[in-house]
Amino acid sequence: MDSSLNLLREEVEHALSELSIPKEPSNLYDPMRYIIGLGGKRIRPILTLMGCQLMGGERKAALPQALAVEIFHNFSLVHDDIMDSADVRRGLPTVHKKWDQNIAILSGDGMLVVAYQYLMQADAAKLPKLAEVFSNTALEVCEGQQLDMDYAAQSAVSIEAYTYMIRRKTAVLLGGAMQLGAIVAGASDKDLALIGKFAEDIGFAFQLRDDYLDSFGDQESFGKEIGGDIKEGKRTWLTIKAYELANTAQKERLDQAFASSDINHRIKEVTSIYQDLGVAALLTAEIARYSKQSAIALDAIDGSEEVKQQLRGLVAYLMGRTS
Ligand code: IPE
Ligand code: IPE
Ligand code: MG
Ligand code: MG
Ligand code: MG
Repeated sequence: MDSSLNLLREEVEHALSELSIPKEPSNLYDPMRYIIGLGGKRIRPILTLMGCQLMGGERKAALPQALAVEIFHNFSLVHDDIMDSADVRRGLPTVHKKWDQNIAILSGDGMLVVAYQYLMQADAAKLPKLAEVFSNTALEVCEGQQLDMDYAAQSAVSIEAYTYMIRRKTAVLLGGAMQLGAIVAGASDKDLALIGKFAEDIGFAFQLRDDYLDSFGDQESFGKEIGGDIKEGKRTWLTIKAYELANTAQKERLDQAFASSDINHRIKEVTSIYQDLGVAALLTAEIARYSKQSAIALDAIDGSEEVKQQLRGLVAYLMGRTS
């Protein structure tokens, strides 16, 4: 991340450290403080602030909405980690591991409410649009999360179905995040649509990179257990492509590996088949393709050139991210 993006991240970090979250009951509120305090890249709130600046607004004006998006994102992670049986998040125990599942469910629910409290801190005239975009986005994330789980139980998932699913579970939130900032700045519907398109394209590439890192990343910097998707039988771009390219013997090996009850063996075997088939390099090329594609919408936006340049830097950073 370059220094201007780092500055935005520090602003978000500072505002998050000053969130007004009550103390008691501690089993409701401590997990909120814990997960939010664990850090993270803060990409979504940065996009909210940049969306506001891109449309000529003062970025401070969109800070409550930026916080709303990051709180919502953290809520979705707490519940996602239950659903994915994930023990590690941002290098530390997940909420349901550190406390328990019921606590993780309820504090997650509470975070969704807190997110709305921050979202609503805006001029009355902007509220209907902010609420509409936020609510539609949040429900689409739920749709994506359900499909992600449905697909884990299916053997054949098409690239089209997978594309539809990750647009919802991940890409729309990046799109919505940036749109909220643009709404605060009073953007036109035309620019809002382009902003949504741009940030969704990078959100799409973002989830592809997440799939890549889940199998080929370094646990220390990624902060999540490597092989988590394989362990859970998730249908990611890598799985789908591998089945597409595999010969009959390799398909059988893949089926057997995914059916193995020895989790370590399953992860090692599937990763090694991915390697044989060269799907990692293909995925990297796909990430570059979507990242490049995002430039089309960005160029068409009637907004600040300086912020566009910063956004190009953000796209480059996200393409190669390791965390
Ligand atoms: C993780 O999001 C969930 C996905 C949509 C891949 P991030 O990779 O943005 O996680 P943090 O907030 O930086 O930890
Ligand atoms: C996460 O997808 C999407 C949401 C949390 C909405 P993943 O399940 O791939 O995210 P990680 O890898 O656990 O962060
Ligand atoms: Mg997960
Ligand atoms: Mg998940
Ligand atoms: Mg993942």
